[in-house]
Amino acid sequence: QAVTVAVVGATGAVGEAMRSILAERKFPIKELKLLASERSAGEVIRFGGKDIVVQDLATFDPTGVDIALFSAGGAVSKEYAPKFVAAGAVVIDNSSTFRNDDDVPLVVAEVNPEALRDRPRGIIANPNCSTMQLLVAIAPIHRQVGIERINIATYQSVSGTGVKAMEELGKQTAALLNFQPPAAEVYPVQIAFNVIPHGGDFMDNGYTTEEMKLVWETRKILGDDRIQVNPTVVRVPVFYGHSEAVHLETREKITAAEARELLSTAPGVELVDEMVPGGYPTPVTHASDADPTFVGRIREDISHPRGLDMWVVADNIRKGAALNAVQLAELVLKERQ
Ligand code: A2P
Repeated sequence: QAVTVAVVGATGAVGEAMRSILAERKFPIKELKLLASERSAGEVIRFGGKDIVVQDLATFDPTGVDIALFSAGGAVSKEYAPKFVAAGAVVIDNSSTFRNDDDVPLVVAEVNPEALRDRPRGIIANPNCSTMQLLVAIAPIHRQVGIERINIATYQSVSGTGVKAMEELGKQTAALLNFQPPAAEVYPVQIAFNVIPHGGDFMDNGYTTEEMKLVWETRKILGDDRIQVNPTVVRVPVFYGHSEAVHLETREKITAAEARELLSTAPGVELVDEMVPGGYPTPVTHASDADPTFVGRIREDISHPRGLDMWVVADNIRKGAALNAVQLAELVLKERQ
């Protein structure tokens, strides 16, 4: 039956994708509440043939909301998610605020959907975008042969940082092509025509917070604390779509042919793996604005007897955030039927 859905952060990059994915997938909506800060309150957004006025979250009464999709930053989730739950809603939260809490399930729809049923606080956390696509690609392999260790380098697009970062890449590119100095405000150094080995904040162990999310979230979602993860997060001058060079060390040997066979039927995965020029996924040619997690360059690691390499690409705004949140909402809805 149709339910009342709230999108918190409805005017942001992820909020916008949530709206279009709800519409595309014909989510049964009785009423849609669009919420943002007072800056965009009063704005009118068209949805399902109707005009909906954006409301100020600070003064909104959540009574009657069945499912709330939060993507307005950690501070907003921390303050308002419990209020929505108290009013009777199930909250699906895209921030990192609750992801490591034991009493909040962290769920990738294709990987551990059963975990969302146990949610004592009424909150379900949506994983970080880089973890999301990694797990869609590697969970089938973990189930088959066990993964001991993951070495991963990410190539993350600027949309993951937000709208301001996308503007910065555009402006710097235009400035440089016109022989003007590029201004860096969002990133600490120039992003146009450059790569930056830094995401989040530096921690005492030398890794960054974005890197440690890959460690913590992978273990929690696969329910296996023995998995070793060694990540390097890199920001690249791409607008949409994260890429990952993934090197697995498995408990038992799996051949490239077996891995290909396994992934060819894995939910949420699309194989693009031909050994010809262009026979692999890239953000621009495959991932941007698409739902699947694309996997290519599958090969056995010549430096390790149980090593397997692959290249994983997905739209960080869709599967990495908005799409998974809507898939989780669909699973919550199914429970009610
Ligand atoms: P607003 O448009 O009013 O600023 P992005 O990360 O793409 O910039 O999007 C952030 C989203 O979170 C926007 O919809 C933004 O709304 C919303 N947001 C940011 N801060 C708050 C806040 N304090 N209360 C409610 N919504 C907020």
